[in-house]
Amino acid sequence: MKLVLLGPPGVGKGTLAVALKDQLGLNHISTGDILRAEMKANTPLGLEARKYVDGGELVPDELVTRLIESRISTPEIYSKGYLLDGFPRTQKQAEDLNEILNKLDQSIDRVICLDASIEIIIERLTGRRLCKNCGELYHVKNKPPQKEGVCDKCANSLYQRADDNEETIKTRMEVYTTSTRPIITYYEKQGKLKKVNADTEASVVLETTLSFLNE
Ligand code: AP5
Repeated sequence: MKLVLLGPPGVGKGTLAVALKDQLGLNHISTGDILRAEMKANTPLGLEARKYVDGGELVPDELVTRLIESRISTPEIYSKGYLLDGFPRTQKQAEDLNEILNKLDQSIDRVICLDASIEIIIERLTGRRLCKNCGELYHVKNKPPQKEGVCDKCANSLYQRADDNEETIKTRMEVYTTSTRPIITYYEKQGKLKKVNADTEASVVLETTLSFLNE
């Protein structure tokens, strides 16, 4: 199965992706995670990406599309199926993805579009914490670690993403509205998109998504 996860920043795409990956045995491909790993390692790509990511702007289409193409062209990835989290994010990326998939004789089966109120989104983003080592996701209220600031899984320290501050969140929301929201219509026209209310608990979001995938 090949899936795309759409939705505004902080709505819970990463949380749902991890749950779906575990349930369905898919590869989880997150452009945000890939870019942050490159930034952490100070690679040329990471240094370029930092110019955009920390301020909440989108990294140029060509750069992220190349990252995705190299992954989804790999037999180990496409044979098992995958879940694209955070890509495509512009009309150009959606069209380029379509072209790449056509060349590979593949297609996207379903697109899940999460949505939640702005109040919930801000609360989720400002309270999010991640493990420095394994990337495990936490939330100060919704999913706190057993010991404050420490990862339950690997005991390393937690951190807050540089783009999870109110000013950058505002920019990310504006970028979502102008650049990403229009591709909802693109996938609706293809009859592949399902809108899922993410204002509820993560387990309910997962259940709703799984029943759609089983339709
Ligand atoms: P990216 O990492 O993709 O960020 P994003 O889209 O802003 O989404 P987030 O990761 O912030 O949130 P999420 O929806 O995954 O929520 P999460 O599950 O973590 O991208 C970052 C940047 O990289 C972009 O701004 C851009 O610069 C660049 N980039 C990436 N892709 C690109 C592309 N294709 N083109 C160009 N540039 C690109 O949840 C958030 C919090 O809420 C967590 O703490 C979680 O525990 C909690 N939570 C989640 N769901 C629930 C729930 N149902 N109930 C209660 N709490 C919940």
